[in-house]
Amino acid sequence: MAAEISLLLCFLTIFVHCVAAQQTNNGSVSVGALLTAVPDAKPWLSPSGEFALGFQQPQGNDSFLLSIWYDKIPDKTIIWYPKDGPLVPRGSKVELINRRGLVLSDPQGREIWTSASNSDDIAYGLMNDTGNFVLVASDSSRIWESFGYPADTMLPTQILMKGGELESKKSRTNFSVGRFQLRLRPQGDLILHTVDRFIGDSNDDSYYNFGFIDDDSGERVIFNATGYLYILRTDGTRFDLTPRNAVPSGNYYHRATLDSDGVFTQYYYPKDSTNDTDWKVVWLVPTDICETGKGCGLNNVCSLDDNRSTCECPQGFSLVDPNYSHGDCEPKFVPSCEAGFSEEQFDFTELNNIDWPNSDYASTKPSNEENCKSSCLKDCFCAVAIYRDSQCWKKRLPLSNGRKDPSRVVKAFLKFRKGTGHPPGISPVFPRESKSRRSLIIIGKALLSTSVFVNAVLIAVFCFGFFQICKLKSRTTYPGSSKAVETTLPRFTYQELVIATDGFKDVLGKGAFGVVYKGVIETKPVAVKKLDTVEQHAQKEFKIEVNSIARTHHKNLVQILGYCDDGDQRLLIYEYMSNGTLAFYLFGDVRPCWKQRSSIVVGIARGLSYLHEECSAQIIHCDIKPQNILLDDCYNPKIADFGLAKLLKINESRTHTGIRGTKGYLAPEWFRNTPVTVNVDVYSFGVLLLQIISCRKSVVFENDNEDMEVLTDLAWDCYHEGRLDEFVKNDLEALNDYKKLVTFLMVGLWCVQEDPSSRPAMRKVIQMLEGEVGVNEPPCPSPFSVTY
Ligand SMILES: *[C@@H]1O[C@H](CO)[C@@H](O)[C@H](O)[C@H]1NC(C)=O
Ligand SMILES: *[C@@H]1O[C@H](CO)[C@@H](O)[C@H](O)[C@H]1NC(C)=O
Ligand SMILES: *[C@@H]1O[C@H](CO)[C@@H](O)[C@H](O)[C@H]1NC(C)=O
Repeated sequence: MAAEISLLLCFLTIFVHCVAAQQTNNGSVSVGALLTAVPDAKPWLSPSGEFALGFQQPQGNDSFLLSIWYDKIPDKTIIWYPKDGPLVPRGSKVELINRRGLVLSDPQGREIWTSASNSDDIAYGLMNDTGNFVLVASDSSRIWESFGYPADTMLPTQILMKGGELESKKSRTNFSVGRFQLRLRPQGDLILHTVDRFIGDSNDDSYYNFGFIDDDSGERVIFNATGYLYILRTDGTRFDLTPRNAVPSGNYYHRATLDSDGVFTQYYYPKDSTNDTDWKVVWLVPTDICETGKGCGLNNVCSLDDNRSTCECPQGFSLVDPNYSHGDCEPKFVPSCEAGFSEEQFDFTELNNIDWPNSDYASTKPSNEENCKSSCLKDCFCAVAIYRDSQCWKKRLPLSNGRKDPSRVVKAFLKFRKGTGHPPGISPVFPRESKSRRSLIIIGKALLSTSVFVNAVLIAVFCFGFFQICKLKSRTTYPGSSKAVETTLPRFTYQELVIATDGFKDVLGKGAFGVVYKGVIETKPVAVKKLDTVEQHAQKEFKIEVNSIARTHHKNLVQILGYCDDGDQRLLIYEYMSNGTLAFYLFGDVRPCWKQRSSIVVGIARGLSYLHEECSAQIIHCDIKPQNILLDDCYNPKIADFGLAKLLKINESRTHTGIRGTKGYLAPEWFRNTPVTVNVDVYSFGVLLLQIISCRKSVVFENDNEDMEVLTDLAWDCYHEGRLDEFVKNDLEALNDYKKLVTFLMVGLWCVQEDPSSRPAMRKVIQMLEGEVGVNEPPCPSPFSVTY
C-alpha cells in the first residue's frame, strides 16, 4: 500500500502546481520573468493566444522540452526548440535575463542552453503572433529571435538566409538532431541531404535538389505571409517552391517541416475547426523517400505508404535502437571467413519483393536461383544473394538502400547459421509484481505512450481517484494514532535516535528551538527535533509538558510520536511531513493554486482554534509563521512547534528578553506592556493569511528602491484603494474567485488589528472564512503607526 501511495503521490504532484506567469496579454515578457518546468505550467502566450513558449513533455514522462507551439491546436504541435532538443528534468527553469537572453537551467542551476551571449540591454521579450519569439532592445532593434535559429520548421513570414538550415529531429518524440537537413548552401543552392551520424557533419550527400541544379543564384528562402515558399534569387526573381495555387486561402495555420523521415512537407490546419482534424499536406518532397535510399538505416528495408516510409528489419536482423524504427538493423549472424566453417552449417531465408541495390560485390549473368544460392553458400563473404531476371548479385554487410516494392519481381536469399537464433516459445521473464503495482505500471506506460491531450485527461481522472484515496487515508490514520497516545508517549534513548537518524545526518530544517532531522523508526519516516535550550532543572516539567502536547489530537496539528529525555539530551519525535513547510510551498518559483491555498488557510484556522479553545489546556502557539506550518502527503496543513513556548520556560509575563516569535509576524502587544493572550496568535494568523493570499513574504522589498514595506500596510492600502489585482500579483485564479478573495482579505485585516481586543477569535475566523457569518468592513489595522 505504501508503495502505491507514493507512486500515486508522484502523479498528484503533477497536478497540484499551477503556475504564475509573469506576462501580460500583449505577448510581452519582462526581463526577470521565468517559467518553471512543471506539468501544465502556464506558458508565455502570444497576444492572440495562438502561439506559446514554455515547457512541454514530449515523452509524457518527467522530462521537459523548452519549445514554442500552436497553443490552440489540441496536440500542441511544436514548431521550435533549442538545437538538439535538450530534455530537462522537472523544476528546470527558463529565465529572461538582461544582457544574456533566454537562459535554460536545470534544478541545480546548471546552464543547459542560452539564446545569445550578446551583451546588449534587453527591453523585453515578445511572443509574437507569427510564432516568432523576439528579444527586443530598448531602441526596438531585435537582439535575438527564434526565427533566426529554426529547428525543423519554418512559418509564414520566416526567412532562411544563405547558409541557414532546418534539421530534422530524430523521431516523432525524440528532438535530438536527426539524419536530415534542408540547407541553402553558401554557394546558393537549396538541397535536402543527410548528415554523418558519427561526426554530425553534413556530408553534402544530397538526396533531393529543388530543381535548382546548375542554378546557384539562391539568396534566401522566403515563406510569405499567405503561405507560399519560394527562393529569392540574387537578381530579385523568384523560384517557386510551393506550387502555384496549391495553398488553400482562408483561415489556416501553415508550416513547412523537415519531418524526421527526411520528407520536407508543407502543411495546413484550419484555425477554427470544431471537429477533430489533423495537419493536411500542401506538398512534399521527395515523393518517394525509399527510392532515394535514405528512408531507412543500414540493413533496414523501406516500404512506401502514401509518400511516407515505413522501415522494417528483415528476418534475422533487429533494430540497433528499438525505439528508432528508421534506424539501423543489426544482424544476428555475420558471415565470417575464419577457417573451419563448412557450407552445411548455413541455410537461407527467402524474401520476396525486397532488394538492397548498391551493396553488391559480385554478379553473374545468366544465372538461376539454385546457382545463385549455391554460389553465396560457398562464398564466406556473401551475406545475401539477390536473384532477378536471370541475374544473381552477391552482397556483403552492411546492406544499404533496402527497399520493399511489391511491383518488383525479385528474390532475396539471406544467409543464416543453422542452430542459431532463439528457439520458439521463450519469452522474457518479468519479476513478479503485486497486482495493483502492475496496474499502476500499466497506467504509467499508457501515459508514456499517449498524446499530451489524452495524458491531461488521464492525469485528471487519476488525481480524482487520488483525492479519494487521500481522504480515505486521512480518515483511517487518525483514530489509530489517537489511541496510541492515550497511553503515555513512547520514550526513546538517545542512542536509539542516533541510529534512527543515521547519526543526525539529514537536516530537515532549523527552528527557534533546535534542529530537525529526518529519521526512520520501525520503517516509518519521522522528524526528530533536537531541542537546544531546555533548562536543566526543568526535567520533571519536560515530561509533563511533552505528555500534554501528546494529548492534543487534531488533523491540523503535527502529531508527536515520542520523546527522548536522556542525560542533557532532549528530543521530540514527530510524524514526518513529506511536502515540507508552507514557506517552501508559498515562496517557491511556482505560485501554488488558489483553491489549494484557500483550503490550507481554513485548515490552519481550525488547528489554531483547537489549540486556543478545544484542547484540555489552552495552548498559545506564539510563533505562527509559514515555516511552522507543515504539509502532509495530501497538502493538508499541520501546525508544528506548538506547546514548546511553555516547555521552554518562556516567561508568560514576558519581560523584554522574553519576546518570542519572528519579526513581521509579531503582534504589537509583544512590545507593549499589555498581557499576551491568544490574540497574539490571531495576529500572526492574519499575517499568514495575507501571505497565503498574495504569496508575498511578510516584509516586502520593493524591487529597485530597497524600500521595505510591511505586508499588513500593503494589504490595507490595496484593499482600501481597490487594487486587489496588485496585491495578488495578478493571480487570475484568485481574482476569478473574487468574493472569496475579498472575504479572506477582510478577515486578514481584522486579524491584524493593532488593538488586540478588535481581533476576532479563531472560531469566528473560521465561520467568516467559510462564509457562515458575514464580515464587516475592517478599519485600518494600525491607526497609530507603529515603528518597531
Ligand atoms: C510581430 O509581428 C508583426 C506581424 O504580425 C510585425 O509587424 C512585428 O514587427 C513583429 N514584432 C516584432 C518585435 O518582431
Ligand atoms: C534521442 O536520440 C538520441 C540520439 O540517438 C539518444 O542519445 C537519446 O537517448 C534519445 N533520447 C530519448 C529520450 O530517447
Ligand atoms: C506569396 O507568394 C505568392 C506566390 O508567389 C503570391 O501569389 C502571394 O501574393 C504572396 N503573398 C504575399 C503576402 O506576398
